[in-house]
Order: sequence, then structure tokens, then C-alpha cells
Amino acid sequence: MYVPPNVVDNNDLTRVMDTSDEWIQERTGIKERRFAHRTEETTTTMAVEASKIAIERAGIKAQDIDFIIFATLSPDYYFPGCGVLLQRAMKMKEIGALDVRNQCSGFIYAISVGDQFIKTGMYKNILVVGAEKHSFGLDFSTRGRNVSVIFGDGAGAVVLQPTDASSGSATNQGILTTHLHSDGESAEILAMFNPGTHANHWVEQTLADFDEAEMGEMFFSHAMIDKAQVFPNMDGPTVFKKAVEKFPEVIMEALSANGLQPSDIALLIPHQANLRISQFVQKKLKLRDDQVHNNIQKFGNTTAASIPIALCEAWEEGKIKDGDLICLAAFGSGFTWGSALLRW
Ligand code: ACO
Repeated sequence: MYVPPNVVDNNDLTRVMDTSDEWIQERTGIKERRFAHRTEETTTTMAVEASKIAIERAGIKAQDIDFIIFATLSPDYYFPGCGVLLQRAMKMKEIGALDVRNQCSGFIYAISVGDQFIKTGMYKNILVVGAEKHSFGLDFSTRGRNVSVIFGDGAGAVVLQPTDASSGSATNQGILTTHLHSDGESAEILAMFNPGTHANHWVEQTLADFDEAEMGEMFFSHAMIDKAQVFPNMDGPTVFKKAVEKFPEVIMEALSANGLQPSDIALLIPHQANLRISQFVQKKLKLRDDQVHNNIQKFGNTTAASIPIALCEAWEEGKIKDGDLICLAAFGSGFTWGSALLRW
């Protein structure tokens, strides 16, 4: 994992918007988050730092990586994606680089794709990365406070490799199964609409104002900027309600697929959306505190980076041991959600 050294606490945010440490902690659990250096760090440079550590811990070299899967919603460029920037920055071979755009569940989708390539024998060393530089594109005025207080910057990476190893009493070590879902019915509930090609097509509400809509003014217009239509939008309560329904559901789906139950989980690493959501899920599944790893208090919601950051932190803290059953789960924009069960 890599997080920028710059710590931004809730009181720092009160200097630019009408909010309070108390409100943020009570509703989200967040105390502080990291913000990338404005010009010296990007989503990809943070991913490079996390990838270097993952590759070193896997005991291989960057040139051994044979496929990159990069999940982010805050790419360095609109296109091309971050995967190729990472390939260039790390002087990797001319390998495939795939970008995943599944927001909060991006990392689960990414390892699910990687898992299939490993299981079919197509690749041997897949670098899977989740990274975000949210601080660059949020509305830090009072108008955007329901969204901007939640997010932080950072990156996490893993290397996926094939193994025949068994672990403890289990015969199968590694990723057991992954479970992916989507429901586009609520696509606009948590979204950044502009710049985009939607032309106000999908919903009655005006998502973008196009000035006089001259040719060349449709993608980005002055009116869009003046009307603050270029920031993420979120109907927080609706996201909350759906998240607390889908998290337990998709975790139970993974457990049932493997003939297991919540008490078998050594550690649940939920996407760090909101501490209240994680607590709700913990209660619903009757998990003890030591069965759930949360770190949103320190890093905020880092979207695609949150699971690999939390996984790395939990492993470094000695919370993950060989043979442990680890459950990863996420829910977010789209809506998309998913889970993965791993035998460490
Ligand atoms: N500081 C102070 N007041 C605020 C802030 C803020 N940062 N943000 C909103 N408020 C105010 C609102 O203006 C509103 O005031 P009003 O009652 O006078 O109109 C009041 O607080 C309540 O607003 P709600 O949006 O209803 O607040 P809620 O209790 O739902 O909490 C929150 C908002 C934290 C976003 C919550 O809805 C939530 O966590 N939803 C889940 C969404 C989530 O986790 N998103 C994370 C990103 S998406 C993902 O990763 C899945």
C-alpha cells in the first residue's frame, strides 16, 4: 500500500466548508484522510509505489509481471487509462494492461478477472492495483460537503500467482470464488456525470448545461463549470440503505458457494465506504470485532484502493495468517457490488 504523507483531519476541512469534526465522525467514523501532493503525485504514481512493494514481496521483478489490471475512478487521463502509464513508469514488458471502471467494487472486479486468467493458466504474475486521487476533483465548498468529507487518496496492489498449495486442513489455497453483481437502475444515485457523452439522455433532471451547444462545446462547457455540474453527486441515504442490504447478501452468497458460514471467516475486509455501514454488516453477520478490519478512520474512503490498503495493513499487523479464511466485499456506484473468498 501507499498513502501520501499529507494528513488532512476533519478540522482542516472546517476551514474551507461548513462542517465539523463531530458531524463527520458521527456519520462516517472518519477522523482523517490523506491527500496527494497536488502536482507531484497522481493516481498512477501512487499505484507505482504500492506496486513496487507488492512485486518485491512476491519475490519477483517488474519485468516478470505478465498482465496489469488497474481499477480507478480518478485516472490521470480521461484516456488512455492508468494501466499503460503504470506499465511505462515501471518499465514493464509490452504486456496487456486492462483498466477497470467499477468504482468502490473495482478491486473485487479486478481480482476476479485476474483470478480467471490465473486459473486458465494464461498468466503467471498478474499485478492488480486499486488507486485513487480523489482530492483533485471534489467540491470542497459547503455545497459539496456530503461527498467531499468522505474521500481520501491512496493506492494498494497485489500480485496474483498460481499455486497448488494446500493450507492447513483446507485443500485449496488462494482465491476460492468471486461473486459480482450490478444494478444500473440506480446509476445516477452516486455518479459524476460530466464530462460525458450523456447529453441529458437518461434522466429528466438536467445533468449538464451546454451553453449554446455549439459544436465542440458539448463535452465541457462554461455553464457546466459555473453550475458546479463537474463534481461527483451522491444521494447518501439511498446508497446507505442499499449498501447495508447488499453487503451481507453478497458475503453470504460467497460463503454458501463454499459451504461455509460467517463464523468461519477469520477476517472480513469490507470496502471502507463508511464505518457505520461496516458496523451494520458486522452486526448482521454476528461477527466479533477481531473478525472485521476497518481503517476508514485514518484514510477515509479510498474507493478502488480501500480493500488492498486494508488488506495490506491487516497483513502487516499480523492479523492474517496462513490458512485463514479472508472475505473481501464491496458495494458502490453503479450500483455494483461483489465479494471474494480467499484461503490465505
Ligand atoms: N457536515 C455537516 N453537515 C452535513 C455534511 C457535512 N459534511 N454533509 C451533509 N450535511 C448535512 C446535510 O446538509 C443535511 O442537513 P439538513 O438536514 O439541514 O438538510 C444533514 O447533514 C443530513 O444530510 P444527509 O445526507 O441526510 O446525512 P446522512 O445522515 O445520510 O449522512 C452520509 C450522510 C454520511 C453521506 C450518509 O448518507 C452515508 O454514509 N451514506 C452512504 C454513502 C457512502 O458511504 N458513500 C461513500 C461513498 S460510496 C461508496 O463507497 C459506496
